Amino acid sequence: MATVVLGIESSCDDTAAAILVDGRLASSVVSSQAVHEQYGGVVPELASRDHQRLIVPIVDAALKKANVAITDIDAVAVTYGPGLAGSLLVGLSFAKALAAARNVPLLGVNHLEGHIYSVFLEETQPPLPHINLTVSGGHTQLIVVDKGFKHNILGRTRDDAAGEAFDKVAKLMGLGFPGGPHIDRLASKGNPEFVHFPRSRPDKFSFSFSGIKTSMLYYLADQDDRENHLREHLGDLCASFQRAVVDVLAGAVADAVEETGIPHVTITGGVSANRELGERVRADGRRLGFDVCIPRPAFCTDNAAMIAKAGEMKWHAGFESPLSLTVIPNLAL
Ligand code: KG4
Ligand code: ZN
Repeated sequence: MATVVLGIESSCDDTAAAILVDGRLASSVVSSQAVHEQYGGVVPELASRDHQRLIVPIVDAALKKANVAITDIDAVAVTYGPGLAGSLLVGLSFAKALAAARNVPLLGVNHLEGHIYSVFLEETQPPLPHINLTVSGGHTQLIVVDKGFKHNILGRTRDDAAGEAFDKVAKLMGLGFPGGPHIDRLASKGNPEFVHFPRSRPDKFSFSFSGIKTSMLYYLADQDDRENHLREHLGDLCASFQRAVVDVLAGAVADAVEETGIPHVTITGGVSANRELGERVRADGRRLGFDVCIPRPAFCTDNAAMIAKAGEMKWHAGFESPLSLTVIPNLAL
Protein backbone atom coordinates (compact mmCIF):
# COMPACT_ATOMS: atom_id res chain seq x y z
CA MET A 1 0.00 0.00 0.00
CA ALA A 2 1.27 3.43 -0.94
CA THR A 3 1.82 6.02 1.79
CA VAL A 4 -0.13 9.22 1.20
CA VAL A 5 0.78 12.48 2.95
CA LEU A 6 -1.40 15.57 2.64
CA GLY A 7 0.39 18.91 3.14
CA ILE A 8 -1.43 22.13 4.03
CA GLU A 9 -0.01 25.66 4.03
CA SER A 10 -1.92 28.80 5.03
CA SER A 11 0.60 30.94 6.94
CA CYS A 12 0.27 34.11 4.86
CA ASP A 13 -1.74 34.85 1.71
CA ASP A 14 -1.41 31.55 -0.17
CA THR A 15 -3.89 28.75 0.46
CA ALA A 16 -2.11 25.57 -0.59
CA ALA A 17 -2.48 21.79 -0.47
CA ALA A 18 -0.27 19.04 -1.84
CA ILE A 19 -0.15 15.25 -1.92
CA LEU A 20 2.92 13.05 -1.66
CA VAL A 21 2.55 9.40 -2.61
CA ASP A 22 5.47 7.31 -1.36
CA GLY A 23 7.51 10.49 -1.08
CA ARG A 24 6.86 11.60 -4.64
CA LEU A 25 4.84 14.70 -5.40
CA ALA A 26 1.47 13.72 -6.88
CA SER A 27 -0.15 17.17 -6.79
CA SER A 28 0.47 20.69 -5.55
CA VAL A 29 -2.23 23.34 -5.68
CA VAL A 30 -1.65 26.96 -4.64
CA SER A 31 -4.23 29.71 -4.66
CA SER A 32 -2.53 33.10 -4.27
CA GLN A 33 -5.06 35.54 -2.89
CA ALA A 34 -5.53 38.45 -5.31
CA VAL A 35 -7.45 40.53 -2.78
CA HIS A 36 -4.24 42.04 -1.30
CA GLU A 37 -2.83 43.51 -4.50
CA GLN A 38 -4.94 46.68 -4.28
CA TYR A 39 -3.54 47.35 -0.78
CA GLY A 40 0.11 46.78 -1.76
CA GLY A 41 0.54 44.23 1.03
CA VAL A 42 -1.19 41.41 2.87
CA VAL A 43 -4.24 42.44 4.95
CA PRO A 44 -4.43 39.81 7.75
CA GLU A 45 -8.20 39.90 8.24
CA LEU A 46 -8.86 39.48 4.52
CA ALA A 47 -6.26 36.70 4.32
CA SER A 48 -7.90 34.55 7.00
CA ARG A 49 -11.33 35.02 5.45
CA ASP A 50 -10.02 33.94 2.07
CA HIS A 51 -8.29 30.88 3.58
CA GLN A 52 -11.61 29.92 5.15
CA ARG A 53 -13.33 30.16 1.77
CA LEU A 54 -10.57 28.32 -0.11
CA ILE A 55 -9.27 25.57 2.18
CA VAL A 56 -11.89 22.93 1.31
CA PRO A 57 -11.85 23.46 -2.49
CA ILE A 58 -8.04 23.60 -2.56
CA VAL A 59 -7.64 20.34 -0.60
CA ASP A 60 -10.29 18.76 -2.84
CA ALA A 61 -8.43 19.91 -5.93
CA ALA A 62 -5.14 18.47 -4.63
CA LEU A 63 -6.80 15.10 -3.89
CA LYS A 64 -8.48 14.98 -7.32
CA LYS A 65 -5.29 15.91 -9.16
CA ALA A 66 -3.36 13.20 -7.31
CA ASN A 67 -6.19 10.76 -7.90
CA VAL A 68 -6.42 9.77 -4.24
CA ALA A 69 -9.43 9.73 -1.90
CA ILE A 70 -9.59 11.50 1.45
CA THR A 71 -9.78 8.03 3.04
CA ASP A 72 -6.35 7.18 1.52
CA ILE A 73 -4.50 9.83 3.57
CA ASP A 74 -1.96 8.35 6.03
CA ALA A 75 -0.74 11.59 7.63
CA VAL A 76 -1.53 15.31 7.57
CA ALA A 77 1.36 17.81 7.57
CA VAL A 78 0.48 21.43 8.29
CA THR A 79 2.21 24.74 8.94
CA TYR A 80 1.64 25.92 12.53
CA GLY A 81 4.00 28.94 12.48
CA PRO A 82 5.51 31.40 11.91
CA GLY A 83 2.92 33.51 10.13
CA LEU A 84 -0.33 35.39 10.59
CA ALA A 85 -2.33 33.92 13.50
CA GLY A 86 -5.72 34.05 11.77
CA SER A 87 -4.30 32.53 8.59
CA LEU A 88 -2.43 29.74 10.39
CA LEU A 89 -5.56 28.90 12.42
CA VAL A 90 -7.54 28.04 9.30
CA GLY A 91 -5.01 25.50 8.00
CA LEU A 92 -4.21 24.02 11.41
CA SER A 93 -7.86 23.68 12.46
CA PHE A 94 -8.67 21.95 9.19
CA ALA A 95 -5.67 19.62 9.53
CA LYS A 96 -6.47 18.74 13.14
CA ALA A 97 -10.08 17.97 12.30
CA LEU A 98 -9.05 15.76 9.39
CA ALA A 99 -6.33 13.95 11.37
CA ALA A 100 -8.80 13.33 14.23
CA ALA A 101 -11.60 12.18 11.94
CA ARG A 102 -9.35 9.82 9.96
CA ASN A 103 -7.29 8.81 13.02
CA VAL A 104 -4.00 9.52 11.26
CA PRO A 105 -0.89 11.38 12.54
CA LEU A 106 -0.80 15.16 12.60
CA LEU A 107 2.61 16.56 11.60
CA GLY A 108 3.09 20.20 12.62
CA VAL A 109 5.68 21.88 10.41
CA ASN A 110 7.60 25.09 10.92
CA HIS A 111 7.12 27.14 7.74
CA LEU A 112 10.86 27.82 7.65
CA GLU A 113 11.59 24.09 7.75
CA GLY A 114 9.21 23.81 4.81
CA HIS A 115 11.39 26.21 2.82
CA ILE A 116 14.65 24.61 3.98
CA TYR A 117 13.57 21.07 3.01
CA SER A 118 11.84 22.15 -0.23
CA VAL A 119 15.08 21.17 -2.00
CA PHE A 120 14.28 17.52 -1.23
CA LEU A 121 11.31 17.73 -3.60
CA GLU A 122 13.79 17.79 -6.48
CA GLU A 123 15.49 14.82 -8.15
CA THR A 124 19.01 16.03 -7.35
CA GLN A 125 19.19 16.36 -3.61
CA PRO A 126 21.88 18.15 -1.61
CA PRO A 127 23.95 16.20 0.93
CA LEU A 128 23.91 16.99 4.65
CA PRO A 129 25.38 19.09 6.10
CA HIS A 130 24.81 21.94 3.70
CA ILE A 131 24.52 25.70 3.87
CA ASN A 132 21.03 27.09 3.36
CA LEU A 133 20.06 30.65 2.58
CA THR A 134 16.32 31.16 3.09
CA VAL A 135 15.16 34.43 1.58
CA SER A 136 11.45 35.17 1.61
CA GLY A 137 8.97 37.95 2.28
CA GLY A 138 9.23 37.40 6.03
CA HIS A 139 12.67 35.86 6.56
CA THR A 140 16.32 36.13 5.58
CA GLN A 141 18.62 33.68 7.26
CA LEU A 142 21.79 31.79 6.59
CA ILE A 143 22.14 28.44 8.36
CA VAL A 144 23.97 25.14 8.37
CA VAL A 145 21.47 22.30 7.94
CA ASP A 146 22.68 19.03 9.44
CA LYS A 147 21.34 15.51 9.89
CA GLY A 148 18.56 15.07 12.47
CA PHE A 149 16.92 18.40 11.62
CA LYS A 150 19.73 20.31 13.31
CA HIS A 151 20.00 23.91 12.22
CA ASN A 152 22.93 26.10 13.17
CA ILE A 153 22.08 29.72 12.51
CA LEU A 154 24.99 31.69 11.08
CA GLY A 155 23.07 34.93 10.69
CA ARG A 156 19.82 36.60 9.81
CA THR A 157 18.45 40.01 8.95
CA ARG A 158 18.39 42.67 11.62
CA ASP A 159 15.43 44.47 10.08
CA ASP A 160 13.60 43.89 6.78
CA ALA A 161 13.66 40.54 4.99
CA ALA A 162 15.08 40.48 1.45
CA GLY A 163 11.64 39.86 -0.07
CA GLU A 164 10.18 42.65 2.03
CA ALA A 165 12.80 45.00 0.53
CA PHE A 166 11.79 43.88 -2.98
CA ASP A 167 8.13 44.47 -2.13
CA LYS A 168 8.65 47.88 -0.48
CA VAL A 169 10.97 49.19 -3.21
CA ALA A 170 8.53 47.97 -5.87
CA LYS A 171 5.75 49.88 -4.10
CA LEU A 172 7.89 53.06 -4.10
CA MET A 173 8.28 52.64 -7.86
CA GLY A 174 4.54 52.11 -8.35
CA LEU A 175 4.82 48.41 -9.23
CA GLY A 176 2.33 45.73 -8.16
CA PHE A 177 2.47 43.38 -5.18
CA PRO A 178 4.37 41.17 -4.63
CA GLY A 179 7.16 43.28 -6.07
CA GLY A 180 9.93 40.68 -6.45
CA PRO A 181 8.74 39.15 -9.75
CA HIS A 182 8.15 42.65 -11.25
CA ILE A 183 11.63 43.86 -10.29
CA ASP A 184 13.20 40.60 -11.51
CA ARG A 185 11.56 41.00 -14.94
CA LEU A 186 12.27 44.74 -15.33
CA ALA A 187 15.86 44.43 -14.06
CA SER A 188 16.79 42.20 -16.98
CA LYS A 189 16.41 45.23 -19.30
CA GLY A 190 18.24 47.73 -17.09
CA ASN A 191 21.73 48.92 -16.22
CA PRO A 192 22.74 47.58 -12.79
CA GLU A 193 25.35 50.32 -12.44
CA PHE A 194 22.93 53.20 -12.98
CA VAL A 195 22.72 53.99 -9.23
CA HIS A 196 24.97 52.58 -6.51
CA PHE A 197 22.69 51.53 -3.66
CA PRO A 198 24.25 50.61 -0.27
CA ARG A 199 25.38 47.03 0.35
CA SER A 200 24.83 46.62 4.06
CA ARG A 201 26.14 43.68 6.07
CA PRO A 202 26.35 44.73 9.73
CA ASP A 203 28.67 41.77 10.29
CA LYS A 204 29.84 38.80 8.27
CA PHE A 205 26.58 36.87 8.32
CA SER A 206 23.99 39.50 9.30
CA PHE A 207 21.85 41.37 6.84
CA SER A 208 20.09 44.72 6.87
CA PHE A 209 17.75 45.71 4.07
CA SER A 210 15.90 48.70 5.51
CA GLY A 211 18.65 51.14 4.43
CA ILE A 212 18.40 50.27 0.77
CA LYS A 213 14.67 50.96 0.79
CA THR A 214 15.29 54.38 2.40
CA SER A 215 18.00 55.05 -0.21
CA MET A 216 15.52 54.43 -3.00
CA LEU A 217 12.99 56.68 -1.24
CA TYR A 218 15.49 59.57 -1.04
CA TYR A 219 16.80 58.94 -4.52
CA LEU A 220 13.29 59.24 -5.99
CA ALA A 221 12.44 62.28 -3.83
CA ASP A 222 15.57 64.03 -5.19
CA GLN A 223 14.43 63.81 -8.80
CA ASP A 224 12.90 67.02 -10.23
CA ASP A 225 10.42 65.07 -12.29
CA ARG A 226 10.01 61.82 -10.41
CA GLU A 227 7.33 60.35 -12.67
CA ASN A 228 9.28 61.04 -15.83
CA HIS A 229 12.51 59.73 -14.31
CA LEU A 230 10.74 56.56 -13.25
CA ARG A 231 9.26 56.10 -16.71
CA GLU A 232 12.65 56.53 -18.39
CA HIS A 233 14.78 54.57 -15.93
CA LEU A 234 12.49 51.97 -14.34
CA GLY A 235 14.62 49.08 -15.65
CA ASP A 236 17.85 50.78 -14.54
CA LEU A 237 16.52 51.38 -11.03
CA CYS A 238 15.24 47.81 -10.72
CA ALA A 239 18.58 46.45 -11.99
CA SER A 240 20.59 48.69 -9.62
CA PHE A 241 18.49 47.75 -6.61
CA GLN A 242 18.55 44.05 -7.46
CA ARG A 243 22.33 44.11 -8.00
CA ALA A 244 22.83 45.55 -4.52
CA VAL A 245 20.66 42.86 -2.88
CA VAL A 246 22.30 40.06 -4.88
CA ASP A 247 25.81 41.35 -4.01
CA VAL A 248 24.95 41.18 -0.31
CA LEU A 249 23.29 37.74 -0.38
CA ALA A 250 25.85 36.10 -2.68
CA GLY A 251 28.73 37.60 -0.70
CA ALA A 252 27.43 36.10 2.54
CA VAL A 253 26.92 32.69 0.91
CA ALA A 254 30.51 32.62 -0.39
CA ASP A 255 31.81 33.66 3.05
CA ALA A 256 29.74 30.93 4.72
CA VAL A 257 31.27 28.29 2.44
CA GLU A 258 34.74 29.58 3.20
CA GLU A 259 34.20 29.77 6.95
CA THR A 260 32.48 26.39 7.40
CA GLY A 261 34.35 24.50 4.67
CA ILE A 262 31.00 23.03 3.54
CA PRO A 263 30.89 23.06 -0.28
CA HIS A 264 27.13 22.53 -0.68
CA VAL A 265 24.64 25.39 -0.85
CA THR A 266 20.86 25.54 -1.11
CA ILE A 267 18.80 28.69 -1.62
CA THR A 268 15.11 28.62 -0.77
CA GLY A 269 12.13 30.94 -0.17
CA GLY A 270 10.39 33.28 -2.59
CA VAL A 271 13.46 35.39 -3.41
CA SER A 272 15.38 32.27 -4.47
CA ALA A 273 13.19 32.41 -7.61
CA ASN A 274 15.19 35.53 -8.56
CA ARG A 275 17.05 34.96 -11.80
CA GLU A 276 20.11 37.09 -11.03
CA LEU A 277 20.55 35.65 -7.54
CA GLY A 278 20.56 32.10 -8.90
CA GLU A 279 22.93 32.95 -11.75
CA ARG A 280 25.35 34.77 -9.45
CA VAL A 281 25.54 32.10 -6.75
CA ARG A 282 25.91 29.36 -9.38
CA ALA A 283 28.75 31.30 -11.03
CA ASP A 284 30.41 31.77 -7.61
CA GLY A 285 29.99 28.04 -7.01
CA ARG A 286 31.78 27.16 -10.25
CA ARG A 287 34.57 29.61 -9.42
CA LEU A 288 34.98 28.74 -5.74
CA GLY A 289 34.14 25.03 -5.89
CA PHE A 290 30.73 24.59 -4.25
CA ASP A 291 27.53 23.15 -5.66
CA VAL A 292 24.23 24.98 -5.58
CA CYS A 293 20.71 23.62 -5.36
CA ILE A 294 17.72 25.92 -5.88
CA PRO A 295 14.28 24.37 -6.19
CA ARG A 296 12.13 25.15 -9.23
CA PRO A 297 10.25 28.49 -8.87
CA ALA A 298 6.95 26.83 -7.87
CA PHE A 299 8.72 25.34 -4.82
CA CYS A 300 10.55 28.61 -3.99
CA THR A 301 7.45 30.65 -3.25
CA ASP A 302 4.97 29.45 -0.63
CA ASN A 303 3.46 26.06 -1.40
CA ALA A 304 2.22 22.98 0.44
CA ALA A 305 4.51 20.47 -1.30
CA MET A 306 7.39 21.69 0.86
CA ILE A 307 5.25 21.34 4.00
CA ALA A 308 4.28 17.78 3.03
CA LYS A 309 7.95 16.95 2.34
CA ALA A 310 9.29 18.43 5.60
CA GLY A 311 6.45 16.78 7.55
CA GLU A 312 7.07 13.42 5.93
CA MET A 313 10.82 13.57 6.57
CA LYS A 314 10.19 14.34 10.25
CA TRP A 315 7.52 11.62 10.47
CA HIS A 316 10.00 9.07 9.13
CA ALA A 317 12.39 10.24 11.86
CA GLY A 318 9.74 9.41 14.49
CA PHE A 319 8.13 12.79 14.96
CA GLU A 320 4.38 13.40 15.44
CA SER A 321 2.36 16.31 16.85
CA PRO A 322 -0.39 16.13 19.48
CA LEU A 323 -3.90 17.14 18.45
CA SER A 324 -3.58 19.91 21.05
CA LEU A 325 -1.06 21.67 18.77
CA THR A 326 -1.76 25.42 18.52
CA VAL A 327 -0.53 28.06 16.10
CA ILE A 328 2.67 29.91 17.04
CA PRO A 329 2.79 33.11 14.95
CA ASN A 330 6.37 33.95 15.99
CA LEU A 331 7.69 30.37 15.92
CA ALA A 332 11.48 30.34 15.61
CA LEU A 333 13.55 27.76 13.79
O1 KG4 B 1 8.42 32.40 0.35
P1 KG4 B 1 7.39 33.38 -0.04
O2 KG4 B 1 6.39 33.00 -1.11
O3 KG4 B 1 6.55 33.85 1.19
C1 KG4 B 1 7.10 34.06 2.46
O4 KG4 B 1 7.31 33.06 3.20
O5 KG4 B 1 7.37 35.25 2.74
O6 KG4 B 1 8.18 34.69 -0.48
C2 KG4 B 1 7.50 35.79 -1.00
C3 KG4 B 1 8.52 36.85 -1.34
C4 KG4 B 1 7.91 38.19 -1.73
O7 KG4 B 1 8.56 39.20 -1.00
C5 KG4 B 1 8.22 38.27 -3.22
O8 KG4 B 1 8.37 39.61 -3.67
C6 KG4 B 1 9.51 37.51 -3.31
O9 KG4 B 1 9.34 36.42 -2.44
N1 KG4 B 1 9.78 37.01 -4.67
C7 KG4 B 1 10.83 37.41 -5.42
C8 KG4 B 1 10.71 36.75 -6.67
N2 KG4 B 1 9.60 35.95 -6.61
C9 KG4 B 1 9.04 36.13 -5.39
N3 KG4 B 1 11.83 38.27 -5.15
C10 KG4 B 1 12.74 38.48 -6.11
N4 KG4 B 1 12.69 37.90 -7.34
C11 KG4 B 1 11.70 37.02 -7.65
N5 KG4 B 1 11.67 36.45 -8.85
ZN1 ZN C 1 7.41 31.33 2.88
